[in-house]
Amino acid sequence: MIQILQNNTAQLAGINSLVAAQPEETSQAPLSSSEMVNREERITAGNPFTDNPRMTCRNVNVYYGDKPAINDVSIDIAEHEVLAMIGPSGCGKSTFLRCLNRMNDTIDICRVTGDIKLDNMDIYGKDIDVVPLRAQVGMVFQKPNPFPKSIYDNVAYGPKIHGLVANKTELDQVIENSLIKAGLWNEVKDRLDQPGTGLSGGQQQRLCIARAIAVGPEVILMDEPCSALDPIATAIIEELIAELKEQFTIVIVTHNMQQAARVSQRTAYFHLGDLLEVGRTDKLFTAPSHQLTEDYITGRFG
Ligand SMILES: Nc1ncnc2c1ncn2[C@@H]1O[C@H](COP(=O)(O)OP(=O)(O)O)[C@@H](O)[C@H]1O
Ligand SMILES: [Mg+2]
Repeated sequence: MIQILQNNTAQLAGINSLVAAQPEETSQAPLSSSEMVNREERITAGNPFTDNPRMTCRNVNVYYGDKPAINDVSIDIAEHEVLAMIGPSGCGKSTFLRCLNRMNDTIDICRVTGDIKLDNMDIYGKDIDVVPLRAQVGMVFQKPNPFPKSIYDNVAYGPKIHGLVANKTELDQVIENSLIKAGLWNEVKDRLDQPGTGLSGGQQQRLCIARAIAVGPEVILMDEPCSALDPIATAIIEELIAELKEQFTIVIVTHNMQQAARVSQRTAYFHLGDLLEVGRTDKLFTAPSHQLTEDYITGRFG
């Protein structure tokens, strides 16, 4: 954790100096996040594309019934990066995240158009089975949601239903490896038969991460994974994210800008369903290109 904090001290200093540099701004009337954005202001600032994309999203639109929630978003998600998605409440962060493993399919009135590929595979293609897709692109939710089963069975569930293991020895190995990668093994190895719901909130969230890891994902989506956790449990998850990115690609939604600065290499700023800016995290927080990005990160609305 110390290492992560040191690595990101410059970024955090950047946020703080930007905030400090504009004291007079705070006396202005705050912008309303529901204020209309002009057409030309909606063009994405920065470069949303990368040289080594794991996922590519092009011209993605999402509607709930007639109501648009995501407007023509194009972005790449690079291999072994942590991409943070930030923006005011209701701007479409969760909606966009759910496009990436077709979780929006579970919402009747939700309609997704555009093109999203995982390693050149069209994930909205007719022949795509969403069950293995959601193993390849796993998800961790805001509130830890272990199954009402033992710690062992929580992690065993995915490998069993996906037929990833031939026998109990292999299953035991997958469970141990997944719990080690999720940074939970030492805390639970002597009580694997006890209920997952009996763990602390932070441990439950790491159990959910172990459950996602157990089915061999390529991408892990996290929707405000620390918002229900205390600061110590949050720091442990942030440290874990830094380790996981060596093996996986991670997209994290967070309303905590310090967290985005600490854990991510690139940040995407959403506003009323538009992707207004995307770029290197240090740049976006210290020298944003879009006025609305600056207004948001300096606290003029949110
Ligand atoms: N299940 C749903 N049904 C209808 N509208 C929804 C649903 N989920 C989200 N929305 C709407 O889509 C917009 C974006 O919401 P969401 O993706 O949850 O934003 P965020 O995660 O950035 O807070 C909001 O206007 C919200 O009311
Ligand atoms: Mg959300």
